[in-house]
Amino acid sequence: MAAQVHTIGHPLIQHKLTLMRRAETSTAKFRALLREISMLLAYEVTRDLPLKTEIIQTPLTHMEAPILAPEKKMVIISIMRAGQGILDGILELIPSARVGHIGLYRDPRSHVVVEYYFKVPHDITERDVLLVDPMIATGNTAVAAVNRLKQIQPRSIRFVCLLAASEGIEQLHAEHPDVPLYTAAIDDKLDEHGYILPGMGDAGDRLFGTR
Ligand code: URA
Repeated sequence: MAAQVHTIGHPLIQHKLTLMRRAETSTAKFRALLREISMLLAYEVTRDLPLKTEIIQTPLTHMEAPILAPEKKMVIISIMRAGQGILDGILELIPSARVGHIGLYRDPRSHVVVEYYFKVPHDITERDVLLVDPMIATGNTAVAAVNRLKQIQPRSIRFVCLLAASEGIEQLHAEHPDVPLYTAAIDDKLDEHGYILPGMGDAGDRLFGTR
């Protein structure tokens, strides 16, 4: 299966991403920009949502109007903690979506990804997942999160991030070629600590002001 990578080149997204990358951007501004970009990414990711029609009454007459098909049930699953920033933006656009959380950390000695939190809606098998994390660096966390989700068999999984390193994309798609990736940009390097270059630093620290 050919892996799908969608790089969303919309000028508003690219402009906001540049503002986020700047080292001098404040926590408040970073948070606001992440919310705004996430809404714009969500617009692209949901382009193919199915519609049905229903008869409605306008103030003047009635008409057959398009409305989202109810069987397309979504769940946004945030990889903690930086995923929260994308989650908040997407929820502004899709307030009825359900929410799940996955907490993962990398053991500093063994480098194994360890799960410390997992909570998703009980009817996950009927839902389409938007899995969100601003950064895909090595791809280890993304792969571990998708592995875990596949154990409980949601209807589909799409991965939404802001920045992905080529290495991380390769790893994700080597393991999960069926998971389409939506990103605002692809950077081609990682430093020796696994940070994306040129990147934007630690997305969680910048979002929560814990730098
Ligand atoms: N996670 C981040 O927050 N930043 C990186 O550059 C890599 C992983």
